[in-house]
Amino acid sequence: MSRPQRTFVCQSCGAVYAKWAGKCDACGGWNTVVEETAGTAAAGAPPGRLAGGGKGRRIEFAGLTGTSEQPPRLVTGLAEFDRVCGSGLVPGSALLIGGDPGIGKSTLLLQVAAALARAGIGCAYISGEEALDQVRLRAQRLGLDKTDVQLAAATAIRDIVATLDARGAPSVAVIDSIQTMWLDSIDSVPGTVTQVRASAQALIELAKRRGVTVLLVGHVTKEGAIAGPRVLEHMVDTVLYFEGERGHQFRILRAVKNRFGPTDEIGVFEMSDRGLIDVANPSALFLAERRGAVSGACVFAGVEGTRPVLVEIQALVAPSSFATPRHAVVGWDSGRLAMVLAVLEARCGVSIGPNDVYLNVAGGLRIAEPAADLAVAAALISSLADTPVPADTVIFGEIGLGGEVRAVSQRDARLKEAAKLGFQKAVAPVTDGARPTAGGISVDEVGHLSDLVARLRPTNERRRPLAPAGRRQGRYD
Ligand code: TYD
Ligand code: MG
Repeated sequence: MSRPQRTFVCQSCGAVYAKWAGKCDACGGWNTVVEETAGTAAAGAPPGRLAGGGKGRRIEFAGLTGTSEQPPRLVTGLAEFDRVCGSGLVPGSALLIGGDPGIGKSTLLLQVAAALARAGIGCAYISGEEALDQVRLRAQRLGLDKTDVQLAAATAIRDIVATLDARGAPSVAVIDSIQTMWLDSIDSVPGTVTQVRASAQALIELAKRRGVTVLLVGHVTKEGAIAGPRVLEHMVDTVLYFEGERGHQFRILRAVKNRFGPTDEIGVFEMSDRGLIDVANPSALFLAERRGAVSGACVFAGVEGTRPVLVEIQALVAPSSFATPRHAVVGWDSGRLAMVLAVLEARCGVSIGPNDVYLNVAGGLRIAEPAADLAVAAALISSLADTPVPADTVIFGEIGLGGEVRAVSQRDARLKEAAKLGFQKAVAPVTDGARPTAGGISVDEVGHLSDLVARLRPTNERRRPLAPAGRRQGRYD
């Protein structure tokens, strides 16, 4: 008998090595490479019978025009979840929900399973992490214990696949979580890349063959050090990430890959003592705790997917007590903050000096849009000059390296949302056709970042001058 093949697999990205290495060359992760005994299934290949790769027979080609009928989507009735999936689940698809432990994945999927069961769709919830009683208690707390969800505690993939393959088996299966599942043909412990990938492969194969919709839960840590859903992203049809700050009650479900719908859509939920509740109007929620005009804060009119969302951006520029000033960002890209600071210094003569810079997107939302540049700049200038941005103003626009303010998409949708929430003014990029008002909002168009700086310049001596004397604020002068 041949000796089982030893391979070393990066638990973060799945790269395979012949010998151990402290650092993964593929993803740059440290201490992520561990030994796995792969048997016949090489770590990169799917397990069992697929490893042989066919018998050399000719394959039959078919044309693009055919009669592939799409069965109706499974609509859960949880509006935000359906929206992110692209108006419901596609039968026979595999969906992965990733997110930090404790963020609410099990809660969400229990609610999804119960909603489907209520609609008369056979639904199984297979828990590998929690005992039956724990899941039942949660269902009771959520008021879902009267629904007809088929509950099981199991981790052996072979048993699960056999059960779901049988006649009359449920047509939707929630697997919570893929990290706890294991296939006995593979020697590695559950949670390693090889096990996670092989287990998912077996479930996805079942989904395609039997039309079972599989919802996989996957934990990711901030460092991505545990064999995470990252290695599964290319195998499943849809990847959703569930995010949010632990201390906040808002949760954002974000589609990062969807073979059957849009990928930039978000769903907003509020975590309550009765589970996750749809948030139909996120802007009102994100702005709920705003305290009028304070220096260093402004409202950004953003767009997430197809939906405009208003959020407050907060900045604090304060004299540093460190040798090297600190720049810390929550909810935005720190590289982009560095760029905005550099443009303010180089193109507008605003001196940040040896100050610490803190930036926060209030409410726990994570913004990826470059359109937030102008709002970030406004918050920074406002904090530095100690001048509040007017409370009835929203801001959006992308900033170029020359300091020019660039147009962004969906201008009207942003302005309409702002008008709906009672805002009167907007600071926005210049448009071709002169449209000083839109949706009842008067628009102040800025072509260059220095125009914005001029508008937020301190109006009396009590406030801090922006430049060049701003440097005097530092402790080194
Ligand atoms: P959970 O769904 O177990 O997270 P995950 O599966 O992603 O690890 O959610 C756990 C958190 O959610 C826990 O801290 C408690 C909170 N929670 C509520 O606030 N309200 C509820 O109704 C439920 C069920 C959980
Ligand atoms: Mg869980």
